[in-house]
Amino acid sequence: MKRRPIIAGNWKMYKTKDDALAFIYAVNVKVPEKELVESVICAPAIFLRDLVKREGEELRIGAQTMHELDEGAYTGEISACMLKSYGVEYVVIGHSERRAYYNETDESVNKKVIQAVKNDITPILCVGESLDIREAGTTDQIVKDQVVKAYLNMNAEQALKTVVAYEPIWAIGTGKTATPEQANDTIKAIRNVLTELYSAEISEQIRILYGGSVKPNNVDELLAQSDIDGALVGGASLDPESFLALVNAAVK
Ligand code: PGA
Repeated sequence: MKRRPIIAGNWKMYKTKDDALAFIYAVNVKVPEKELVESVICAPAIFLRDLVKREGEELRIGAQTMHELDEGAYTGEISACMLKSYGVEYVVIGHSERRAYYNETDESVNKKVIQAVKNDITPILCVGESLDIREAGTTDQIVKDQVVKAYLNMNAEQALKTVVAYEPIWAIGTGKTATPEQANDTIKAIRNVLTELYSAEISEQIRILYGGSVKPNNVDELLAQSDIDGALVGGASLDPESFLALVNAAVK
């Protein structure tokens, strides 16, 4: 089964408005057709409106987080329908930095994934283990548990609208990448859980990305793996040339 690859940049808390717009102008005209690869930039919320307005046919814009409820007294938060009303099409949910610094739990991640899907926004659900867990040899168990909890109360039709990003925490921003085989093995384990939760037919259609120090010089070997359907990229998505190198690698 051929799944369309996704390269999603996660800008985190980097760039000013001018930097963000300069990036969009530089890459918009150069990203490959979206039938070949989905090219996505997940930007800080304050830039989303400007970026969506200027995105081209092929480049798509995503948010980095959102609230799990429709509306309410939640100062500083942004809802899925607000994102939708601006034309935002993707949202990163449960990034390890959000789990670690902003108390995002498996329960809130589950609610957010459902909320995104209900609002027609593609959630990029992040899961991944710490170094302790990797060294203790319990990675698959921990990651499977995160996946099961994230898909609670979701039917197959909703699950099909999700994307998973497997990001070992020890590989994020550290320059240490999981070996392509390690990444592929864990991603296969994730696909197996999705098969158990839904069916092989469904799990074969869900894109599962790898994230953690993906760079133009290691992306080829990662994407060559059987089950890695793209990448969620932090540092290497900030520079236009580097981002373009990654999306072009996904077309090969
Ligand atoms: P990195 O970040 O590519 O800088 O390691 C990945 C991520 O946090 O999604």
